Amino acid sequence: MFEPELFPSASALLPLPPGVTWLEGFALDWEDALIGALAQIIKAAPLRHMLTPGGQRMSVAMTNCGSLGWITDRHGYRYAALDPDSGRPWPALPEVIRELAAAASLAAGYPSFEPDACLINCYAPGARMSLHQDRDERDFSAPIVSVSLGLPATFLFGGLTRRERPQRLPLAHGDVVVWGGPARLAYHGVAPVADGRHPKLGRQRINLTLRRAGPLNLNGN
Ligand code: SIN
Ligand code: FE2
Repeated sequence: MFEPELFPSASALLPLPPGVTWLEGFALDWEDALIGALAQIIKAAPLRHMLTPGGQRMSVAMTNCGSLGWITDRHGYRYAALDPDSGRPWPALPEVIRELAAAASLAAGYPSFEPDACLINCYAPGARMSLHQDRDERDFSAPIVSVSLGLPATFLFGGLTRRERPQRLPLAHGDVVVWGGPARLAYHGVAPVADGRHPKLGRQRINLTLRRAGPLNLNGN
C-alpha cells in the first residue's frame, strides 16, 4: 500500500520559482574537506567586516577565494583581483569547492558552470543580510551556487522586484541553493541568525556564494 511520507523534506513543501533549486544536504559529502579548505582560506585572507558605500559596517564578516573577490567600501560594490587588506591575490579556489559547484549546478540543470569568484560570508548569531540582487557580475548567464554550513538560517528568496514578499527557506548545514535563468536577478537575503552551536563549526553560519563574475573591465571596475 502507498504510504504518504510522514516527514516530507522542507524543500518539498515550497514551490520555488522557475530557475531555483534547493538541494538539501547536497554538500554533506564534501563537509570535512570544505571545512579544512575554509580554514586555510581564512588564514591567508582573514574575515573582515566591510564598509558599505553608505558607511555602515556589515554585520556579516567576509572574505573570498578564486581569481576575483567581491568587495565593498566607500567607493561601492565591485569585484577585485587583489585582497584590499593585503594587496595580494585572493587564495585560489580549492578543488573541493570547484567540484561541489560543478556537481550542484549540474544537479540543478545548469551544466558547465565555471565559477571564478567565491564569496565567503560568516554570520555570528544576530548577523543578517538585507534583501538585495547580485548584479555586480559581468553577465548574468551563469547561475549562482550558494552553500550553507554551520548554524541554520532563514534564507529569504523574493522575486524580481523588491515589492514581492520573499519565501522563507529554512537552510541547514550542507544545503545548497542554485538560482539562475529567470531567477538570476531575484532579490534575496538572510534573516538574523539565531544563536546556537553547530557541532563542527560552533556559533556561526558560513555561506559560500559561487559566481562567474569576470572578466573585469579594463579599468578594473
Ligand atoms: C549572499 O547573498 O551573498 C549571501 C546569502 C547567504 O548567506 O545565504
Ligand atoms: Fe547575494
